[in-house]
Amino acid sequence: MTATVDREHLLTSVEMAHFVSHGAIALEGVVPEEMNERAIDVLDAGIPGHPYSTPLDTAFPRGTFVRELLDLPVVAGAVQSLVGPDPVIDHHAVHVRPPRGGEAQNMHADAIFDTRTDAFDAQLMYYPREVTLEQGGTLSVPGTHLRRTNESGIGRYQNLAGQTRLTCPAGTIVLLHHGIWHGGRRNDSDVARYMFKIRFNPTVRQLRLWNTDDIDDPGVLRELTTSFGWSRAPEARLELVNRAKLWRTLTGDQLFDIDNYLTREQLRPQLVAPGATDVRLGSNATAAGWGL
Ligand SMILES: [Fe+2]
Repeated sequence: MTATVDREHLLTSVEMAHFVSHGAIALEGVVPEEMNERAIDVLDAGIPGHPYSTPLDTAFPRGTFVRELLDLPVVAGAVQSLVGPDPVIDHHAVHVRPPRGGEAQNMHADAIFDTRTDAFDAQLMYYPREVTLEQGGTLSVPGTHLRRTNESGIGRYQNLAGQTRLTCPAGTIVLLHHGIWHGGRRNDSDVARYMFKIRFNPTVRQLRLWNTDDIDDPGVLRELTTSFGWSRAPEARLELVNRAKLWRTLTGDQLFDIDNYLTREQLRPQLVAPGATDVRLGSNATAAGWGL
């Protein structure tokens, strides 16, 4: 679907680095108002489900509202930057919080403990209406996506330092790394809160899928080293390592590092020092050297 996205609509390297450190990127108010108005009826009517891994063309053919949404250049460019052209649909869901309705959802990461470090799924969240603090908004904890957890194993945490509650203008799209810790909040307003979610699985290696023209911009490292309230130094170094690993995967640059942490971890010299012998070879030199 997104194979024809113009380069100008792809994410930049600085934006990708933001996604790698935060686990999310928000595109505020990018959906035209005319579409946001149509969206309410579409979401109220429901959007039929599809089996896991349905091709996008099958799940959302041209002419449907969702396809129109995904074909907006800014949306298509962001999705392609994260998961590449022609992703498949893991699942999708319409979430409506009625006025004065719902309870705060336990903090969780979607799905199960996910051990992948060389790939990720992207979750798109579309908010057709303005989301105010009173309406609750989706709670998420930036930077947690690389701290693996098993679904609701973190449910006992009600609040974490550095968490954010999404408030946004109508027509906002948020793209999340699948591992981010989050939870829906109560709606304490008189207006229903609408959100439409799609989870995309990549079908290509997630290698340099964005506009890499600014790959050497100092803003890349600035974004990658962002710190959050829940993870202060020295423990925050774990996140720097995890982000450096992901940045290596995404760029293909196996020498990339932050403060030399990965370089230290991989320090396993194979050169045998002069005069050293290998006892496994049982060489005469070894026996002689050990005085046997
Ligand atoms: Fe969730």
